[in-house]
Amino acid sequence: MANVTVIGAQWGDEGKGKIVDWLAARADVVVRFQGGHNAGHTLVVGDTTYKLSLLPSGIVTGTLSLIGNGVVLDPWALRDEIKRLEGQGVTITPDNFGVADNCPLILPLHRDLDVLRESAAGKGKIGTTGRGIGPAYEDKVGRRAIRVCDLAHLDELEPQLDRVCVHHDALRAGFGEPSVDRAELVAQLREIAPFVQQFAQPVWKRLRDLRRDGCKILFEGAQGVLLDVDHGTYPFVTSSNTVSGTVASGSGLGPASAGFVLGIAKAYTTRVGSGPFPTELNDPIGERLGERGREFGTVTARKRRCGWFDAVLVRQSCAISGVTGIALTKLDVLDGFETIRICTGYRLRGADGDTQMDYLPASATEQARLEPVYEEMDGWEATTAGARRWADLPAQAIKYIRRIEELIECPVASVSTSPEREDTILVRDPFAEQY
Ligand code: GDP
Ligand code: IMO
Ligand code: MG
Repeated sequence: MANVTVIGAQWGDEGKGKIVDWLAARADVVVRFQGGHNAGHTLVVGDTTYKLSLLPSGIVTGTLSLIGNGVVLDPWALRDEIKRLEGQGVTITPDNFGVADNCPLILPLHRDLDVLRESAAGKGKIGTTGRGIGPAYEDKVGRRAIRVCDLAHLDELEPQLDRVCVHHDALRAGFGEPSVDRAELVAQLREIAPFVQQFAQPVWKRLRDLRRDGCKILFEGAQGVLLDVDHGTYPFVTSSNTVSGTVASGSGLGPASAGFVLGIAKAYTTRVGSGPFPTELNDPIGERLGERGREFGTVTARKRRCGWFDAVLVRQSCAISGVTGIALTKLDVLDGFETIRICTGYRLRGADGDTQMDYLPASATEQARLEPVYEEMDGWEATTAGARRWADLPAQAIKYIRRIEELIECPVASVSTSPEREDTILVRDPFAEQY
């Protein structure tokens, strides 16, 4: 088997979409296995830019694309996205796109709750995307979710609607909001049902058959390891497990299905939303990274916070997610910097003095007290932008990559040098390796 799992090794927006699109031509199927339309994956092919949130990035190359059960699905957002992509000339039919029938749905009441809670949270705000992701996952675990398969049985859904409404009405009352309009909710579901049902299927079974036929599966992660609900900077995380291990539970294949785990990491660090960020730069260098990297969120258009590459975090992500190789993206953004810094460790400030740390501690209080320890390197004057061969990289850029490999204890399998699909240097082909 030669499957590939692409996951973010930082706080999201590492360029997963670009790399998945680049690899998709060599895969037989691309599968999303967690998250929802909080994701924003940007693909640039020639003069066209595609922005995907729910659809697997393989759809642009026409590769079979499936949404696994681990995703929370907003059916209205799905319809809007499909229409938008069709407007850009992408063909999306039940022949090349499918949705797991056991996916939980994101309902309008989830979006309401996400926004109500965030606006009332004051300083405790997570800075969510406001898409209802957290509330939808809570209802899944709380056994209250309405799922894709339920759309075929809306007349028999009363007991499940009772469970959803009693829970949400209590919360809404606390926020001074009216109860859920149940009749309206059912009418909305009835209206969207046929659209979703044409794509609904047992994805686990489809994947089992594809795997039996020797097909290559490309799993597309959303967010990043540091936003993982267990391993990330909790509570400033998303509500799903973003680590590679989730491909099994989020798609219905066994734990051996992940194959080559390709961790995507930017040559620097960014983050959207609240939470600790040890190497954050609130200075002209941070501004310069943001401007050169065009660091604005795809989903919410928020400005991304920027900072130097944090090798401690990426080393931790690689270990937690069993990363086989890294795709280092946005190297071109560092072109022209006189000096470049890499965080190699932390000082944890405490009442009794500082403690040296070589990993990110679990406690949010301690994370907020970390100070980065930097190593400084000369930058490079020549450009890496658009380089497609290792030999085209300036010697100093290669030195930077090699130092990162050493510090994160993981090899670099590819390097990305612009948003464009083909501006990618392949060091080690993830599909060529057998697992
Ligand atoms: P994702 O969420 O991980 O798919 O990443 P996003 O698409 O949200 O953000 C990455 C942004 O960087 C997008 O606008 C990409 O077009 C862009 N990008 C990806 N790789 C590169 C690269 O190597 N260089 C530059 N300059 N931009 C890149
Ligand atoms: P991609 O797939 C970057 C962040 C939000 C917020 C936190 C929780 O494009 O890398 P949520 O709406 O999920 O409850 O928000 O997670 N977040 C992302 N940040 N990239 C993403 O996805 C993100 N998806 C969620 O900004 O801090
Ligand atoms: Mg993104």
